[in-house]
Amino acid sequence: MFARLYHNKLYDPMQLNVKKINFHLSKLLFIFLISFLLQSCKNEMKKSDMANIAAPVKIEKSIFGVLPDQQQADLFTMTNKKGMQVKITNYGGIITSWTAPDKNGLYEDIVLGYDSLDHYVKNNPYFGAIIGRYGNRIAKGKFSLDGKNYSLAVNNIGNHLHGGIVGFDKVLWTAQIMEGEEGSLKLTYLSKDGEEGYPGNLQVTVIYTLTNDNELKIDYEAETDQATVVNLTNHSYFNLTANKTDILGHELKLHADKFLPVDKTLIPTGELLDVKGTPFDFSGQKLIGKDIPAEDEQLAFGGGYDHCWVLNTSTDSLTHAATLSEPISGRVLEIYTSEPAIQFYSGNFLDGSIIGKNKVVYGHRSGLCLETQHYPDSPNQKAFPSVTLKPGEKYKSRTIHKCSVLTDKVE
Ligand code: GLA
Repeated sequence: MFARLYHNKLYDPMQLNVKKINFHLSKLLFIFLISFLLQSCKNEMKKSDMANIAAPVKIEKSIFGVLPDQQQADLFTMTNKKGMQVKITNYGGIITSWTAPDKNGLYEDIVLGYDSLDHYVKNNPYFGAIIGRYGNRIAKGKFSLDGKNYSLAVNNIGNHLHGGIVGFDKVLWTAQIMEGEEGSLKLTYLSKDGEEGYPGNLQVTVIYTLTNDNELKIDYEAETDQATVVNLTNHSYFNLTANKTDILGHELKLHADKFLPVDKTLIPTGELLDVKGTPFDFSGQKLIGKDIPAEDEQLAFGGGYDHCWVLNTSTDSLTHAATLSEPISGRVLEIYTSEPAIQFYSGNFLDGSIIGKNKVVYGHRSGLCLETQHYPDSPNQKAFPSVTLKPGEKYKSRTIHKCSVLTDKVE
């Protein structure tokens, strides 16, 4: 019986050892195979990442529409390797649409706007537009420079706002596509001496650049032939959700310890107030809806937030100005700028009367603006950083918008 068992293959100790060795060998082989596979996956990923970085951003041009003066406005669609898409028209340099990924990688539009050029021409509360020659307000539309007095168009409760009646948001820019690893759209415009009351011929260039790193950079440059004032910005209304209801559930952090209080016509009083202990404290990521209903004279003047924050500027040329995030979509928008301040406008004038893209009704506070800029009314407030541009000087300003998701490290 024992002999039978002994001779039975199942109980052959030699056979068992061979089996053990075979088992270990196959284990080793398995481990080797897995690590080989993992390594080649990693290499593949590296290769495709490199391809992503090296691959050029695509820019396509199409006709957007015809303006009342019969000039044609074009639409430029910039698409990067990750799938982010930014559409810009040379009418007003308007960003008409801008997609960004949510936490599941779904790219959806994060800005308010219209589907057609006609709507932008008829009634645009500056959706997505380039703002100039002077973004924000100049008290009573008056200022003096080198002993001369200037009167600008008055278009906002007795003040000059966003460049006047026909600002840079309502003119046709000359567009040039610059394709490369990063895709750029170069827009130029000559603002003639006397336009909206401003002195000097101002040659302006705005370059929008989309990177494969989900950044949209905006570079502004200007030169003049007479002393003038310049303050350029972009007026995109952000809403990081797909449904575009109000932005009160968004969280915001502003890298600013001070803000500029205003009078009831939204002209800065000239003081720089500490945000600490006020509804204007966004020094940590804070729900926009948290303090907006507070009883506060400044909030009452703005009908919500419509104020300029003085950035804690760093020694670098770019300051990390703002981080906007929305917990449900997980979308994050970070803003870096060379400007000394940022206007946070909580969309207080949106009241449901505008029907935007895809027939969505833009209700109260359905979008918010984060406009990098110099302080409002600087031409009249000598203590504020200067906005004067003289012949021979070059105005330069840069703002970078970076889109990511909450799982990424957010500073
Ligand atoms: C800016 C202003 C606001 C308002 C909007 C446009 O951000 O500060 O008061 O005029 O533009 O509606």
